[in-house]
Amino acid sequence: MSYYEITGGRSLSGSLAIHGAKNSVLPILAACLLASGQSVIQNCPDLSDVSTTLDILRLLGCRADREGDTVVIDTTGLTRCDIPECLMREMRSSVIFLGALLARLGEAELSYPGGCELGPRPIDLHLTALRALGAEIMEEQGVLCCQGREKLEGREIYLPIPSVGATENAMLAACGCAGVTTIVGAAQEPEIIDLQGFLQAMGARVTGAGTERLSIEGGAPLHPAQYRVMGDRIAAVTYLCAAAAAGGEVEVTGVPPETLTAVLSCLREAGCTLRTGPDWAVLTSCGPLHGISTVRTAPYPGFPTDAQAILMAALAGGEGATLFVENMFDSRYRHVDELRRMGADIRIAGRAAMVSGVGKLHEAAVRSTDLRGGAALVVAALAAEGTSQVSELRHIRRGYQALDRNLRTLGADIRQIP
Ligand code: EPZ
Repeated sequence: MSYYEITGGRSLSGSLAIHGAKNSVLPILAACLLASGQSVIQNCPDLSDVSTTLDILRLLGCRADREGDTVVIDTTGLTRCDIPECLMREMRSSVIFLGALLARLGEAELSYPGGCELGPRPIDLHLTALRALGAEIMEEQGVLCCQGREKLEGREIYLPIPSVGATENAMLAACGCAGVTTIVGAAQEPEIIDLQGFLQAMGARVTGAGTERLSIEGGAPLHPAQYRVMGDRIAAVTYLCAAAAAGGEVEVTGVPPETLTAVLSCLREAGCTLRTGPDWAVLTSCGPLHGISTVRTAPYPGFPTDAQAILMAALAGGEGATLFVENMFDSRYRHVDELRRMGADIRIAGRAAMVSGVGKLHEAAVRSTDLRGGAALVVAALAAEGTSQVSELRHIRRGYQALDRNLRTLGADIRQIP
């Protein structure tokens, strides 16, 4: 089992081009199924979740070839509509194939998805939305059998929670429906705008992404497309938080800073200087971080739940107190026990976590508990005294391409021990 060995205390400096967004590329790769032929996806990050998605596409009969950061998906040979449990369990976003397969083939058979353990992650909203469009969905021993052939029809769908995945699933299914679908209460995340961009490139009539009301005029014949995926906003804030915690000056490029606003304003309040341009942000550290006003996770444009652990790790080694409130997932504080091993003073009460900065964390052997929790431990170790080990890197590989190499480029002392 490999792990990172990180000697903390080195300040970071330099510039990093941020890889394509995991949470954009996964639904975009599923959306390739909507048209027969060869789509070209650029800025496709090399992540284990992307590899799993490519494996699913191959299993369904498609070709999927990577050259550098470009992936070519040829869906001409699409023959199957069933995805085995072992692939479904690998990641949460495997469920997005439901909408894509229904739209293209009118049927799908798959089991419940896996993914990071952040507490219960139901898919009831996905299923309700697809049923509203006319799909018949039966659950038999954990397998979802979905039929929609010649029955799918555009409707108004209301999402009581702006679920990212349910919005994406409904968008893809709606492309295969006759008539107009309106999704009210849609998620407004930048990744939804990116998915809309790809669907429009395929010829779909989708509008409204980035607002709470999306409209999809279904039935238009779609064609394969070439598309460049947006930069990963959570990877960008991970490197900025690393510089905020360890000290130094770091630039991230390839990500529009307006997608980072909630996190950048916290970093500013904690004492860092930030400059931004059209697709870049530069953070300059100005000494130890101080406590900031309550950080409440919320749907976009609120503070992203995916950045909660990472900012917490940076502030835990700073000075002063900060209250975090996790509103999105029931169990997204699993990194806290590991941070405590490094000397962090964090008290949890239900959804709230009170972080009292201890000035400096110390070395420890810690274990990634999930994707962002793992990244948080790396951030903590970069700023801590001594040499720490971060294990269970499989979680980190789901969402970060070459995290250790990128940090070394910035001057960090981090090695992967096989
Ligand atoms: C997406 O997950 C992201 N994953 C997550 O990123 C991210 O944390 C999350 O959105 C919130 O921003 C991908 O895009 C692949 P949701 P998703 O449906 O779509 C509840 C990362 O670290 N809900 O918006 O699964 C749900 O329990 C990951 O990169 C239902 O109740 O999130 C949660 O409380 C992890 N029923 C809330 O909605 C449903 O049917 C938001 O979840 C669906 C969701």
